[in-house]
Amino acid sequence: MKRRDFGKICASMAATAVAGGPPVALASQRESYPLSGLHTENHQTVTGETLEPGVPYVFFYPYISTPCFLIDLDTEARSGPTHHDPRTGEPYTWLGGVGPNSSIVAFSAICSHKMSHPAREISFINYRHDAVSFYSNAGKSEKKQRVISCCSERSVYDPADGARVLGGPAPQPLAAIELSYDNNTGAISAAASYGGDMYDRFFEKFGFRAAIEHKVNDPAELVGSKTLVRKLTDYSRQTIKC
Ligand code: FES
Repeated sequence: MKRRDFGKICASMAATAVAGGPPVALASQRESYPLSGLHTENHQTVTGETLEPGVPYVFFYPYISTPCFLIDLDTEARSGPTHHDPRTGEPYTWLGGVGPNSSIVAFSAICSHKMSHPAREISFINYRHDAVSFYSNAGKSEKKQRVISCCSERSVYDPADGARVLGGPAPQPLAAIELSYDNNTGAISAAASYGGDMYDRFFEKFGFRAAIEHKVNDPAELVGSKTLVRKLTDYSRQTIKC
């Protein structure tokens, strides 16, 4: 099934309160795709225990050639804040982390500036668990741990805050990947994409190269019911840090 065959669910929803319970954050502009279970190269289901905290992993979702980061931030990542989908101007609320500590997050690994992304040869975009220095959008010199940093032109995102842009030329947050976490088994699946995704532009610009890299005819094919998770350093031969 291809992108154009799949319907969008664009429910205009905001954070709502459930009677007797905590607020439940719902994403607007959510684009639903088939549920895709995350698994390792040994065909093991990925659970919270599979992931090394602070280490960036890569998987492909919702298409066979669109990379995403999967990261255990090793700290709780609460839902919020409200961003705006640049395509529609509609607000959406980031859903926060999943897992026993609400620390596991996933975002599209396609930089919202010029779409730098992890490729087999090299990745200029990386997750940095250690402290990174950068200039904020306010022009101040900052140092911060737990950021997604794109070394192409030095955009910096905060994965504990919906991949909000902290600095650099990126015009919008990374698209968020909604994760489903099974409380009984700990299994993690990818369920949807929301926010300002770059998929159509990615296929226009990189589709030909992505088809060669992934040895497929159609890089815009949906990934299906399972998707492989690898460490970024196992996927890309060279990972750039800046
Ligand atoms: S492509 Fe990422 S900063 Fe330019």
